Amino acid sequence: MAYSYDDLKKSADYILDRIDFKPKIALILGSSLDRLAEEIEDPVVIDYKDIPNYLITTVQSHAGKLILGQLNGKNVICMSGRFHYYEGYDFEDLVLPIRVFYLLGVKSLILTNAAGAVNKSYKVGDIMIIKDHIKLQAGSPVRGKNIEEFGPRFFDMSSAYEPEYRDLAKRAASKISMELREGIYFYCTGPQFETPAEINAIRILGGDAVGMSTVTETITAAQCGMRVLGLSLMSNMAAGVLDQPITTDEVRESGKKSSAQFRALVREIISEM
Ligand code: HPA
Repeated sequence: MAYSYDDLKKSADYILDRIDFKPKIALILGSSLDRLAEEIEDPVVIDYKDIPNYLITTVQSHAGKLILGQLNGKNVICMSGRFHYYEGYDFEDLVLPIRVFYLLGVKSLILTNAAGAVNKSYKVGDIMIIKDHIKLQAGSPVRGKNIEEFGPRFFDMSSAYEPEYRDLAKRAASKISMELREGIYFYCTGPQFETPAEINAIRILGGDAVGMSTVTETITAAQCGMRVLGLSLMSNMAAGVLDQPITTDEVRESGKKSSAQFRALVREIISEM
């Protein structure tokens, strides 16, 4: 379904009625990284299912709640549980959270995800700043009748992942003695993991990591001028890199293992945003 401006305004007004501050930073946390949401102070928690027109998450490991409050002194809104194309939504549905955040006054967006490491020099547990993405397949979230309030029909993607935020993330990491990678996130729709041949092709095309999220959110944010920071946790080596199958348990477990470090990094970044 294509959301009208009024549909999205209704979702945003429902949220605004429940808070007495304006969130400036939005966080969308990927699989197993959502413990950060529990660290938000004075939280106002809203179930997706209670928000008019909002989508409902179908992924088991995702919570399906918006948490609003303060983190490192900043007003934040955090989406614990995101929406993916593989769940059965149309690309056009996936604009929803970002456009609602925009209507709340959010200017900065932090996206995290778990991804498969395509770059053979990467290790499981590494965190990669997304420098840019590649999405060659399928549709766009902002296809269809353009709603001018959310930006122009055609728009630039040459610094969709804000260079200043990438620098900020590097400074934050060095402050807490953490090493970060920086590379290209390659979007695949899923839900099947890729074949080894696909991963070889992705590597040749310039992908360092592969995943099934984030890119639709970045595209929607770029259109309305929101600044984006994307961080990928390497939860597994991509198909064919090791002589073993990829399992969902592996993806979840690595997320949990690196979670404390990841949370420390994101908090440090937020305090400087
Ligand atoms: N491929 C696609 N998405 C993923 C992967 C992967 O290997 N790991 C975590 N999300």
